[in-house]
Amino acid sequence: MEQPLLRLEGITKRFPGVKALDDLSLELRAGEVHALLGENGAGKSTLIKVLYGVYRPDAGIIRIDGRQVQVEDAQHATRLGIGVVFQELNICTHLDVANNIFLGRPKNTLGVIDDGWMRREAGRILTDTIKLDIDPGRLTKHLSIAEQQMVEIAKVVSRGCRIIVFDEPTSSLTENEIEHLFEIILDLKKQGVGIIYISHRLEELPRIADRVTVLRDGRHVRTMAYKDTSNDELISLMVGRELTNKYPRYKRKIGDVIFEVKNLRYRNRLDIGSLAVRAGEIVGLAGLVGAGRTESMRALFGADPADAKEAVLFGKTMRFQTPGEAIDEGFVYMTENRKLFGLCLTLDVESNINLASLKQLSSTAVMNERKAADNAESFRSRLAIKTPSIRTKARNLSGGNQQKVILAKWMSRKAKVLVFDEPTRGIDVGAKYEIYKLMNELSDQGIGIIMISSELPEILGMSDRVAVYREGRIVAILDIAQADSALILQYATGVKK
Ligand SMILES: Nc1ncnc2c1ncn2[C@@H]1O[C@H](COP(=O)(O)OP(=O)(O)OP(=O)(O)O)[C@@H](O)[C@H]1O
Ligand SMILES: [Mg+2]
Repeated sequence: MEQPLLRLEGITKRFPGVKALDDLSLELRAGEVHALLGENGAGKSTLIKVLYGVYRPDAGIIRIDGRQVQVEDAQHATRLGIGVVFQELNICTHLDVANNIFLGRPKNTLGVIDDGWMRREAGRILTDTIKLDIDPGRLTKHLSIAEQQMVEIAKVVSRGCRIIVFDEPTSSLTENEIEHLFEIILDLKKQGVGIIYISHRLEELPRIADRVTVLRDGRHVRTMAYKDTSNDELISLMVGRELTNKYPRYKRKIGDVIFEVKNLRYRNRLDIGSLAVRAGEIVGLAGLVGAGRTESMRALFGADPADAKEAVLFGKTMRFQTPGEAIDEGFVYMTENRKLFGLCLTLDVESNINLASLKQLSSTAVMNERKAADNAESFRSRLAIKTPSIRTKARNLSGGNQQKVILAKWMSRKAKVLVFDEPTRGIDVGAKYEIYKLMNELSDQGIGIIMISSELPEILGMSDRVAVYREGRIVAILDIAQADSALILQYATGVKK
């Protein structure tokens, strides 16, 4: 009988207070794309970290071509032919693109460092693998998250591994980039590479998945051929119940304009004439990655520079110099990048949730500990944040649960206008619904919401109006009744002007 390329047998991994993996087995064949599904905290990333030698399992064995191996660390994993594109970006932002791609590898055939050669090679790898034109000499910290992600993919793919894992590779990519990635994956498959693919976006699976495995609470639920299952079945296997509608239908009470962005300009990158938000309204910002949605909101918020900007909040014109000023006035931007700006990984869940609302939680100069704990507990249950306790450090939560903590933090802060930047990125289907419900509750309180999202169904499902960005400008503002994905894409790509 032919040996599977990879076999994980009875893997168990405990962390204080959680059994992240519980006697889990999984088999990967050469030339297959094996999708790994499960809710936030189900154990997907932990399994991959065990495979890559980041964690030692408490029990269980790993076999490659039938031979038992003990993966010592990342270098050892690489030698064994295992490559991983991690969920949390693994990039060294102080290095340039070429150095990131060649991290831990000989710098040229003679083993000497040769910057010129390395940059040329990196350029070739980037065009060959991801078909993207990124300057290999650029510092990665100046790249967008999507570009950083693509560099990371290029790095792993170019190493010639036989087993490659993608842990939520598409959560920050646009349609085009995702398409590139799928071509890469299909190509790897043809070469006999075994691929484990983790994603919360079921709509991607028909393009690439051969088999699927669903995990729940660290345990194996079922493995099947993708063609023999359906999204409804997969969702109910993941969450353990049926989920019917994805967007909570809701009649919003929309009031007067409470907020307006005016004359926002930065170099030749941004030029926003006007964008208004009414009380209780959700305005969706659609556009391709790099169209300036995040940049414009960050500039307004005082987190990035602008040459000119006006934020008119309840008739008062403001130019926030720092995020602190904006937050004090009730304008809150929730970042898409949880690692860099959103979370204090070394603090516990409770402190993170309460960090932005310390003033509101303290009656005098001292913090009301009881209120703080209640607030954290309330968000923990409403957003179903999976953690042994609110005293657990944020760094020990799964990616999607970290995202929920950030949302809780800003939602517990009294805001007048909230910007959600990719609020459900990396969040499982069940929890998405909870987040949408919370957005509806916020709008009920008369809060104006701006939602940046690359998922058109989400834009269409939640917004009252949609502003479409292209090349730093708003090219259309559509009422939801007239908006559909085709029209939005035509504006976003410039087919329609
Ligand atoms: N280093 C750690 N210390 C303690 N607990 C951890 C650690 N890493 C993960 N966990 C816990 O193990 C469980 C599984 O987490 P894991 O990151 O594998 O989930 P996941 O399936 O990848 O979720 P997501 O879709 O949110 O990324 C979670 O309850 C998480 O809080
Ligand atoms: Mg994960």
